[in-house]
Amino acid sequence: MTRTPFVPDRFWFGGDYNPEQWPREVWAQDIELMQRAGVNTATIGVFSWALLEPEEGRYDLGWLDDVIELLHAGRIGVVLATPTASPPPWFTTAHPDALPVLDDGTRLWHGSRDTYCVCAPAYREASRSIARVLAARYGDHPALRAWHVHNEYGTYCWCDHVAAAFRVWLEGRYGTLDALNRAWWTTFWSQHYESWEQIVPPRATQYLHNPTQAVDFRRFFSDEMLDAYREQSTEIRAAGSSVPITTNFMLPSWNHLEQWSWSAELDVPSVDHYLDTTGPDGEAHVAYGSDLTRSWADGGPWLLMEQSMSSISTDGRIAFKDPARAVRNSLGYVARGAQSSLFFQWRASAAGSEAWHGAMVPHAGADSATFRAVCELGSVLDSIAEVVRPPADGRLTNSAIAVWWHAEGWWALENRSLPSDHLSYSDAVRSVHRAAWHAGLEVDFTRPGGDLSGYRVLLVPSMFALDDAAVRSLEEFVAAGGHLVVWPFTGIADEHLHVVTGGYPGRLRDLVGLRVEHLAPLAPDESVTLDDGSTGTVWSELVQPDTATVLRRYRGGDLDGCPAVTRVTRGAGTVTYVSTHLDLAATQTLLEEVAAGAGIEPVVADRPEHVEVIRRRGAEHDYLFVLNHGDRPAHVAGPGVDLVAGARTDDGVPVAAGGYLVVREDEGATWDVTAAG
Ligand code: GAL
Repeated sequence: MTRTPFVPDRFWFGGDYNPEQWPREVWAQDIELMQRAGVNTATIGVFSWALLEPEEGRYDLGWLDDVIELLHAGRIGVVLATPTASPPPWFTTAHPDALPVLDDGTRLWHGSRDTYCVCAPAYREASRSIARVLAARYGDHPALRAWHVHNEYGTYCWCDHVAAAFRVWLEGRYGTLDALNRAWWTTFWSQHYESWEQIVPPRATQYLHNPTQAVDFRRFFSDEMLDAYREQSTEIRAAGSSVPITTNFMLPSWNHLEQWSWSAELDVPSVDHYLDTTGPDGEAHVAYGSDLTRSWADGGPWLLMEQSMSSISTDGRIAFKDPARAVRNSLGYVARGAQSSLFFQWRASAAGSEAWHGAMVPHAGADSATFRAVCELGSVLDSIAEVVRPPADGRLTNSAIAVWWHAEGWWALENRSLPSDHLSYSDAVRSVHRAAWHAGLEVDFTRPGGDLSGYRVLLVPSMFALDDAAVRSLEEFVAAGGHLVVWPFTGIADEHLHVVTGGYPGRLRDLVGLRVEHLAPLAPDESVTLDDGSTGTVWSELVQPDTATVLRRYRGGDLDGCPAVTRVTRGAGTVTYVSTHLDLAATQTLLEEVAAGAGIEPVVADRPEHVEVIRRRGAEHDYLFVLNHGDRPAHVAGPGVDLVAGARTDDGVPVAAGGYLVVREDEGATWDVTAAG
């Protein structure tokens, strides 16, 4: 733990509050309902720029003063946003060069949100100004709990301002044009650059982009947006405001930031997390988003800045989220380190682009199952308030398993010039995490080349490009007795995306003890069968073991009899290589076996499949969260106290279908979790 853990006095409960959409009589009702529900935090001002600064340099903050005073009087804390995600029409009218330009040269108009170019000087200046004005006015207000800079940085632009900034960044990275030409392999297709001015962002072009240029553009944009964030946080600190500053990352569908370097600069990492399925896999998704964000927070507390209380956007529709699920999922985030349960948004808009998005107060009003669940959640968070305090070392889990995560892994596989368009980094990582989740194993994420002390198992899904430090850290991990599992298309290239020749995976050939002569990616509807009956999709390849022994072979098809899964033992360490995307059951079995070999147990052994059990470490105690995702009750017995009921759990307590239990554990407690009756 390298950061000061973020420890509020209680779980933050509430969400985005947009009172400017409503007449003032509704504000009074809002405060009354917030108090009824136990809401203690409102995020305000996220999209208020046009009202706060109706014309350049003229500020109208009176209404925001009133909102903040109302909230304060109602004992509701404020997370104040800087509104820079949505510049007002006057701004873009005055500065059309600050509107974003698509890769094909189309300049976008205002009329939506996020219509800005982060590299436009006028936009940067205007952003600093509004941040400065807000910080001066509210920076020391007693209701202020945190700053929420911007909203979900991630708007790309390909304009000339961007081109100029990209060149500066490239000069910083490569120093000389020669080095850039080498890194970008510009000998191919006559792309050699003779001057920096000839370099442009990867704009729409005749055919495939230069892949290294494309990934560099993503690296650059993340850094550039971080600069913009830094400028605003500098203004806020300069005004003397001392509360935490953060910005909200977005998961999981797009990934425009390199979260490790960003997180190092946030007082507390925060994330917006929206389920992408109505099905049971949504529960695994909650765990995935939480484990990632906790890991960006160095294993410590983090903020869930947004989720949806009552809707799941999926399959082109807005599906109703079961209120019990909303409560359970909220506890799932908390169990994995969230210090908050905040939603978008408090009151459903009556009109506008997101009128149909879920809300804490739906269109139906307070007389609704959704609002009753909001009240229940407020009361539960109150009952479990002590959980908010982390242990002295700041680490909230005991995980000895790490998964490598890096945005560059994602970006590298988005290039459309790879052996397959169907190998998705996000799918690869999620399938590994999902299997660990089904196995009930605690998992952290860590960055390539990062500190692996404390971990006994390291899982590396499809990390195409590795630099020297990353390779070295893998070698050292295994030499120290670690158990490494590597999935295909890992370690193929160096950090410039140059393939290391001589057989794949060139960066790791010795470590994995094999050589892959050729790749055989699968069609979307194709699968391969292994000799234990399991299946693989997306990928296969011709593996030729060297020092590795074969655990599983392909059966049938072109690779009949060829190795599919191998292992090499190095001292006390092992390296397992998986050459296809194994199905969920087989991945789960593999992870269970590797974990057991490393002496790692699930949080609770032999629990029913539909019951999730999570341990969150606390200041004086550990806490067991039991989430029953099934339609049958469960039964939990062990030494502790049910924090909601206030009763001991030694003789066993039921957990209703769809229900939950949060227990303060006695020291060294072990648990029986069974299907009831
Ligand atoms: C978030 C965004 C919110 C709202 C929400 C709807 O990504 O920050 O402003 O748009 O999505 O799901």
